[in-house]
Amino acid sequence: MTATRADDLLPGSHRWAVLRDGAAAAMERAYAPYSHFRVGAALLGSDGSVAQGCNVENACYPAGICAERAAVATAVSRGVREFQAIVICTEADVPTPPCGICRQVLMEFAPELVVLSVTRSGAEAQWTLSDLLPKAFTPTSLGRR
Ligand code: THU
Repeated sequence: MTATRADDLLPGSHRWAVLRDGAAAAMERAYAPYSHFRVGAALLGSDGSVAQGCNVENACYPAGICAERAAVATAVSRGVREFQAIVICTEADVPTPPCGICRQVLMEFAPELVVLSVTRSGAEAQWTLSDLLPKAFTPTSLGRR
């Protein structure tokens, strides 16, 4: 995909459809034998790239990783560090926001990230990351140059 223009992210745009489809596809690959709560994420880079992620659980429960952080790891591994939006897909009845750890990880790279959560039944909720994690601890909080 080419770089993202502001109007690419208007509701109903092709870009949102691609991200929704990507998050739903990633959810199908979730490894969630313990919670049975499958999550998929599609993270839009400022260069137009899309990195997908799914939750990957583990018999040692805390070793599992969320879909959003898996998507960040994929994108950063490819050299992408600026993001514009993330779509999260679950099978829950209502759209679920990212967990606190994922909010913090996303905040490192994209304080103004648009977060869209969708369900298989078509319900949607949208936030900005700064709404979800106000007064965040960020790289500038370290006071380093
Ligand atoms: N999960 C995510 O993938 N993203 C979130 O933001 C919330 C929770 C996963 C973690 C675990 O595998 C399952 O959902 C149940 O908590």
